[in-house]
Formats: sequence, C-alpha cells, structure tokens
Amino acid sequence: MRYLTIALTKGRLARKTIELLEEIGISCEEINDKDTRKLVFTDENNKIKIFMSKGPDVPTFVEYGAADIGVVGKDTILEEERNVYEVLDLGFGKCRMCVCGPESAMEYLQKNQLIRVATKYPKIAKEYFYNKKNQTVEIIKMNGSIELAPIVGLSEVIVDIVETGSTLRENGLTVLEEILPLSARVIVNPVSMKMEYERISALIMDIKEAINRRQQQ
Ligand code: PRP
Repeated sequence: MRYLTIALTKGRLARKTIELLEEIGISCEEINDKDTRKLVFTDENNKIKIFMSKGPDVPTFVEYGAADIGVVGKDTILEEERNVYEVLDLGFGKCRMCVCGPESAMEYLQKNQLIRVATKYPKIAKEYFYNKKNQTVEIIKMNGSIELAPIVGLSEVIVDIVETGSTLRENGLTVLEEILPLSARVIVNPVSMKMEYERISALIMDIKEAINRRQQQ
C-alpha cells in the first residue's frame, strides 16, 4: 500500500490538526517533539506521512500531488487559487478577513475614495474592492505586521485577519468592514481523490465523526 501524504500548516493549525489526527488513531513518532529537525513524519501502521510547511505552500504541495491532502486556512486557499478540492471545514482556526484602519478611515470607504490598501492578501483585497464594492483602490502587498501600514502612513486601511482583535486595539485600529469568515479547511489533490477515493473518504469521515464527538462533549 502506498503512503498517503498530508501537508499541515506550521504553527497552531498544525498542532490542532495533529490532536485531531491522534483522536482518530493517526500518530507519528517524534511529531510532538519540539526539538526535532525532522521534516517528514511517518505513521507506519496507517501508511501515512505528514509534513509541515508555511501556509501558502500547502495548496502548492497539494496541487502538484506532492501531498494528497492538506490542512490550511480558507484565506490561503482563496489567495493561492490552486487546483485543489476543498472537502471539509474543520471548525477551528476561526477568524475573520476584515478591512481595518483608524476610525477616521471609515469616511474614505463610505465615499468610495481612491485609497491605499496594505495587505498580505492582494487577491482577496482586489476581489473585495473591485468586484464586490466597485471601489478603485491601490493595493500594496506586504509580508507581515500589516497593522504598521496605516500607523506609519503607508496606507489608509489594511485587509487582514482578525482573531481576537487585540492587535488592532493595541494599535488604535478597528474593524471597518468584514469581508468573510475564515477557518481551517481540508483540501485534496483531484487525482489522489480519484486514485485513493476509499482511503481518503474514510479518513475524511473519521475526521468528521471526531469533530461531531467534540461538539457533543
Ligand atoms: C495575524 C494577523 C494579525 C493578528 C490578528 O498575524 O495578521 O496581525 O494575527 O490576531 P488578533 O486579532 O488575535 O490580534 P500573524 O500572527 O499571523 O502574523 P503576521 O503579522 O506575520 O501576519
């Protein structure tokens, strides 16, 4: 039997996914060892390999079939636009994609002004402003600490992920508009879905049942 390979998003999503996989009897040696330098972990009993990568690379691994399955945020799926099937909402990693800025920037949004929008998610921002709101804006791609942009005068607003809202609050910013709710999703390579249909659908069913059990507790 060939190995099924699962790509996880490094960090909190991976930790939560590993817990979930352990609940359904999938566990890899050393995967919870913080000091390991190992990149790929194996569950020999279930013939599963697991590796972790940066979020935006997860859909890439899955599209090319280097991973059969991936777990990644909906934000990354929308931004990367890879050819993958999205098959399940895991219900954790919940947060919101929002337009944020100082309260004073609300006026620019209401008056449809040509403002600058800093974001790590240019495709999502473009889709929202150009197609949904019909507002022409200048999108500035950033790679992190997006909240800095309106504070230092790089942009009027940002499009970013809000979870607890504390980063915004601590920096005098606020949610101005909500774009969409986000959470962790399971994605599958279309060819793997055909070739390994039984194993993959059984795995998805086990995960679904584990999620339902959690909700009943
Ligand atoms: C994300 C996001 C916000 C923060 C929101 O950043 O970009 O900065 O989390 O969380 P909160 O609403 O609970 O404060 P992340 O930690 O992913 O790092 P980044 O700055 O590199 O995007």
